[in-house]
Amino acid sequence: MQKRQFLNAIAGATLALTATVTASTAMAQDKFKIGLILPMTGPFASTGKQIEAAARLYIAQNGDTVAGKKVELIVKDDTSAADVTKRLAQEMVVNEKVSVLAGFGLTPLAFATAPIATQSKTPMVVMAAATSSITQASPFIVRTSFTLPQAAVAIADWAPNNGIKKVVTLVSDYGPGIDAEKFFKDRLLFNGGQVLDSLRVPMRNPDFAPFLQKVRDLKPDAVYVFVPSGAGAALMKQFAERGMDKAGIKLIGTGDITDDDILNSMGDVANGVVTSHHYSASHNSALNKKFVTAFEKANNGLRPNFMAVGGYDGMRVIYEAAKATKGAGGQALLDAMKGQVFESPRGPMFIDAQTRDVVHNIYIRKVEKVNGQLYNQEFATLKDVKDPGKTK
Ligand code: DHB
Repeated sequence: MQKRQFLNAIAGATLALTATVTASTAMAQDKFKIGLILPMTGPFASTGKQIEAAARLYIAQNGDTVAGKKVELIVKDDTSAADVTKRLAQEMVVNEKVSVLAGFGLTPLAFATAPIATQSKTPMVVMAAATSSITQASPFIVRTSFTLPQAAVAIADWAPNNGIKKVVTLVSDYGPGIDAEKFFKDRLLFNGGQVLDSLRVPMRNPDFAPFLQKVRDLKPDAVYVFVPSGAGAALMKQFAERGMDKAGIKLIGTGDITDDDILNSMGDVANGVVTSHHYSASHNSALNKKFVTAFEKANNGLRPNFMAVGGYDGMRVIYEAAKATKGAGGQALLDAMKGQVFESPRGPMFIDAQTRDVVHNIYIRKVEKVNGQLYNQEFATLKDVKDPGKTK
């Protein structure tokens, strides 16, 4: 081979190599990857199922490209174990080079992942976990679910005006339960009520029976309860079995106990239960009706609950931020999530630019039968509620 030919051959090969590298880089850049980490198996699988279904619905309705890039939703099951959530997040950041981490079905799972978000400067959208302090665990966290103090304070204002002065609190013994207990109690005392006792049940596989017996013995006007999504049915069953309602003890709590996706199967014991929360599947708005109809259609009639809405709105926040930054990641993407104002199926909401936490209405609701089906019927609204946990 002549020297000139040889040089040409090398140049050609280099060119081909460069072309290959450029093509694969372009392909990587042409994707906008969202790493969705959720409990898909185990006692909190309903949270994962609801959020994944809602994220897929959002993509189906809004297209699978954003800012000219193909959206890739990578869904992983953390089995609700915090060490698994953290490892999956690390893999998604390092190997998949995701632009966003999302999901987080329980408080400990969000806390375990926060350092990964901070170190890698990856926005982390919390769609489920609801302990107030989560957003303080990393400056890269944005929340689209809710906070327990938001819900707890609202019903502590309602109760004493509705014949409920003496209360026993009964909560799951971890972050959100402790938030619910504290913020409910402080507000009820402020309003002239009384908390006779504060009981905490194990977060996993709780046996409510001995705690409900204790409540019965204390004879309060009501028991105020927080349990995580999915655990409400067991609570209701044991509440009925103990004859609590017949003993004249009312059940009140956050909307986690009258979870929309299992409410209908709870039976008559749930009828009349008053709770406070940010979302009901029967929220009366055109947008919500459209959301519920589309969700049920895509999921064999499954009713969306508040977890689904956290996932759906989280996708909205991610999509709009990606559009605004033309698909850039990191700090720019995070900044574009802050301050977003929009209508959610829950009603109006925004992401507070300072706290990165959700601000939305909290509704007081009563379980009622509508066309033979149990629903949380909203009857009072507190507007634009910021997380009370942040103002202390
Ligand atoms: C959390 C989990 C839930 O299922 C829920 O309903 C509220 C809070 C949590 O772990 O933060």
